[in-house]
Amino acid sequence: MARIPQTFIDNLLERADITDIVGRRLDLKRAGNEFTARCPFHDEKTPSFTVVPSKQFYHCFGCGAHGTAIGFVMEYERLEFPDAIEVLAAEHGMEVPRDSDASADTGASRQPLYDTLADADRYYQHCLRQHTPAIDYLKQRGISGATAKRFGLGYAPGSGQPLGERLHDTTTALEAGLVIERDHGRGVFDRFRNRLMFPIRDRRGRVVAFGGRTLGEDRAKYLNSPETPVFHKSDQLYGLFEARQANRTLDQVLVVEGYMDVVALAEHGFDNAVATLGTATTESHIRQLFHYTEEVVFCFDGDAAGQRAADKALTCCLPALRGTRRARFLFVPAGEDPASLVTSDGGSAAFQRQIESAESASSLLLARLTANVDLDSIEGRTQLLEHARAPINALPNDTFRDELLREIARLSGHSDEALRERYTTEPRSNAKTNSDADRRSNAATSDAQRGAIEKTTVTRALTRLLADPELATNIAEPAALRETETPGVSVLADAVEFFAANPTISLAAWIERHRDQRYFDRLQQLAADTPPGDRNARAQEFAEAVRRLMPQSGNEHALRTRYRELLAQQAEQSLDNEAATELVEISRKLAEQ
Ligand code: UTP
Ligand code: MN
Repeated sequence: MARIPQTFIDNLLERADITDIVGRRLDLKRAGNEFTARCPFHDEKTPSFTVVPSKQFYHCFGCGAHGTAIGFVMEYERLEFPDAIEVLAAEHGMEVPRDSDASADTGASRQPLYDTLADADRYYQHCLRQHTPAIDYLKQRGISGATAKRFGLGYAPGSGQPLGERLHDTTTALEAGLVIERDHGRGVFDRFRNRLMFPIRDRRGRVVAFGGRTLGEDRAKYLNSPETPVFHKSDQLYGLFEARQANRTLDQVLVVEGYMDVVALAEHGFDNAVATLGTATTESHIRQLFHYTEEVVFCFDGDAAGQRAADKALTCCLPALRGTRRARFLFVPAGEDPASLVTSDGGSAAFQRQIESAESASSLLLARLTANVDLDSIEGRTQLLEHARAPINALPNDTFRDELLREIARLSGHSDEALRERYTTEPRSNAKTNSDADRRSNAATSDAQRGAIEKTTVTRALTRLLADPELATNIAEPAALRETETPGVSVLADAVEFFAANPTISLAAWIERHRDQRYFDRLQQLAADTPPGDRNARAQEFAEAVRRLMPQSGNEHALRTRYRELLAQQAEQSLDNEAATELVEISRKLAEQ
């Protein structure tokens, strides 16, 4: 995809005032320096959705939604990033340029690929009408002509290179993955032969690839198109276009494993199913799904592989679970798949009941966290708390996270408050960004241990800075921060340098530079946060945090402070395992200095 130049995004954010963007879509009321409205992302009676013009950022205290003007348009209009940019640009009379170095990838140069794929699609559909065995196969699987047509099913003939001969532009046919070069460039042969063809369509309904199921004795049951400029397997969901065509709004989307499952489900009235293409669920899949629906029901095999696939899907879902979004999990009995279930007698009704009783994300997560854990023992409760850290920290700060925390607190015998404190002040594995520092990291001290000591300091500095970007100019030598190994400190150094160099730019512009990073949402959470105290207090805290993070003396100071805290804690109550380890680690480090 051609990149949109960063300078354009900066200009757009400068012109497109968030109050204006949101105000065109919601009924905003002024409240001091901010604006409020009823949140469009969850159901509420009293407004907790807040737009902060000084930050060019919005935040909902009710459901935790937050973001820039671009993020708002993406969420509100359910658009992908480039489309949201197009919408905002159009509203402000601007035209979106594309980086010229990506010209090989621009829409124009892809057109021949789309055209060739469309040609192949027409050809395969034509061949299906001519080939009785393939039609019989579909009939035998219970697929009607109407459903075959809706999904554009086709047939790739069995011998020779009939498609290759039809497509005159061999270079493009090769690039589209439709033909394969014969040894030493002596012509090409068709990739798909004697196969039932499933065209894979993108969001706009264009054919971007094919899946082909063998009708013969081939060892590979399915062949798929290779990755091409228009087809990225891990971003693609089979059937999403068709599901959106069939439903004005998608209240629920079923995620299944096979092409045949999608088509058979549609045949039996479940026209809201999509399939991943033989790959595990990715975060990109999840983003797309939750753009179009509030509820995703995953259908996996009940076997061990299916359980693992569910775990992966659950992990990918966590960052998306806020507001009224739900993910649920249905496990199909051994030897069956959704297609076989709905095809059997009374199958549709039974499958519908299974969907209704599918396990919730919270229930699956808690089952995983407590599996083989003896909650009557200290070790068991410790295990629960440790295992819960990554998933809890992956969840957005919202009601769902609160509820889950409450349950884990209950199971482990802690107070809600203690757990909230524990999980917010400890390192988030996915907020680790600092590859240079990681490479230099000292093997004797794990990231987690270092993080527990200093991560809070980075977070404290960053929240103050994001609240008052002009604080950046108070730091004489931000680059020195990078010399320390504190996780996340390079992001802080980057922010200080950026705001010092761009005093008039909005916070939103800085945030948008990190959209592709794993820790993007974490940054948004920090940006949404308003640290306590007045400006002066915040400036002091910022200065103090940065001082602690500076190399040598600063680190030593931080260690000593933490050392004293732990000692005090030990005097008052006993330390848990982790705190005890930390204490030992710190005394070792201080002795070395
Ligand atoms: P399944 O074997 O469950 O396929 O594989 P299915 O679609 O239900 O087909 P039927 O019912 O046997 O006709 C699930 C998915 O895994 C991928 C395909 O995307 C398939 O739909 N797969 C499977 C492959 O890519 N290659 C294979 O050889 C097998
Ligand atoms: Mn199947």
